[in-house]
Parts: sequence; C-alpha cells; structure tokens
Amino acid sequence: MPARVRKAVFPAAGLGTRFLRPRRPSRKRCCRLSISPSSSTAWRRPSASGIDNIILVTGRGKAAIEDHFDISVELEAFLESRNKIGALDEIRRISNLVNVAYVRQGEALGLGHAVLVARELVGNEPFAVVLADDVIDAEPAGLKQMVDVFDRVQGPVIAVERVPWDRVSSYGIVEVESESDGVYTIRDLVEKPRREDATSNLAIIGRYILTPDVFEELEITSHDRTGEIQLTNASAAFSRSAPSTGTRSRACATTPATSWGI
Ligand code: G1P
Repeated sequence: MPARVRKAVFPAAGLGTRFLRPRRPSRKRCCRLSISPSSSTAWRRPSASGIDNIILVTGRGKAAIEDHFDISVELEAFLESRNKIGALDEIRRISNLVNVAYVRQGEALGLGHAVLVARELVGNEPFAVVLADDVIDAEPAGLKQMVDVFDRVQGPVIAVERVPWDRVSSYGIVEVESESDGVYTIRDLVEKPRREDATSNLAIIGRYILTPDVFEELEITSHDRTGEIQLTNASAAFSRSAPSTGTRSRACATTPATSWGI
C-alpha cells in the first residue's frame, strides 16, 4: 500500500539568526503576515494538504510557542461568558485542525539535528519538514503540491526556486539531471556553496517531504564547519546512495511558487 504523508515537523528551536541577516531584502519588505507565530500561519497549509499531525521542535526559551497552541481555557470561558459563539467556534475549529506534539532540541545544532530529534515521533513513515519562516505563496498550497508529487513518486520531494546567482550562497542548492512535468530528479545538493562553486541556482525554499531512511543518513552526517548537522548534507548522501540501494527512490525537486524569507 502506498505511504501517505500524515506528519509535519516544524523546527522552531533555533537561535533566530535568520532574522539577523538580510537574505531577501526586497521581498521581505512586502511581507506582512499576522500576529500569530509563523508556525501557526504555516500549518493551516499542512492541514489543507491532508497532514494532521504537527511535531514542533522547540528548545530553550521557546515555551511561549508551546503555550500558544494550547487550548486557552481562560479565553474560551471569556468568549462563552460574552456569548461570542462565532469566535468560540472559530478558535475550537482551528485547534481541532491538527494534533500537536512537542519535542525539545537540547542544543541548537542545526536543521538536520532538529529533524533527527523528531525521529521517535515521526516513526517509520514519510513526513514533511516545514521551515515556517519561509512563506510560500501558492495555490494549491505548496505543501499540497508536494504531497501530490510524493504520492506519484513515493520518494523524497524538495521545494526549490530559482534565485539570482549572487544569492546562491544563502541557500541549499540543488543540481538536477532531468525534468518531467515540473518535477526534477536530483543529482546532488550542496549547502550554501560559494557563487563560483555553485552548479545551479535552484535553491531549497524550506519545504521538504522526506522518507524515514533520511534518519539513518542524519545519524552519520558529520557536523559542518559551523558545528551544525545540515539536512542538505544528509539529503545529498541519501540521493547519492539511492541508485545503488535499489530500495530508495531518487529525491525530486519541485517549484511550487514564489517564497519569502522572513
Ligand atoms: C536552511 C537550509 C537551506 C535552505 C534554507 C531555506 O538554511 O539549510 O538549505 O535553502 O533554509 O530558507 P538557513 O536559512 O536556516 O540557514
């Protein structure tokens, strides 16, 4: 029976260093989201993609994120006392969209490490990874498009977008070998290459659908020179080994739409 994507991992334990560097400044100015944490905005899309289990990877000083997604007994009692039934129904509807589980990343050791700490909660099934501060503006939702591709190929799917060549060193870059119906077969991936070393300008934009064997690659992926375990490096090892194992599907890349980094 084909595997179905039911879970999404939201890494949210980082130190917020993305906010310290101007990555995509011209777009950033246009981006006004909402006062909710970016994760809560992003997971209306997973629920629209058939994903109903969210795994939030939190860490030190992130208790506010965990609290945000709890049912607020006080708020519900207040709305009830004021007879604001419409608002009450809406917050109950939103909290019923997904099940939320939390796991803590004791140390901020990079995206690959964040995914690895979710291993027990993910179990032996395909799963999405959503970097909630990359906003994807697409209809149908970017994740829904990726789930549709996964249903076809039953292998890892990574969202990519062409970026200007002078920005390639800010992203994981994907080298592809063939394209069919908007889906590329990935040959290799490199995390933040120098402009002169980059073999493509197809950049990873913070949405992944992965299969559980990526955890084995993450276990043996070395820390990079910044001390982090990169998901890109584990995915690269996965992609290189896929043809020889015979049991793994090659990873694919799709271009769901435009993204903004916030
Ligand atoms: C992460 C990934 C990178 C990807 C980027 C997308 O990098 O490691 O491959 O291109 O997200 O936003 P970060 O920006 O967290 O350093």
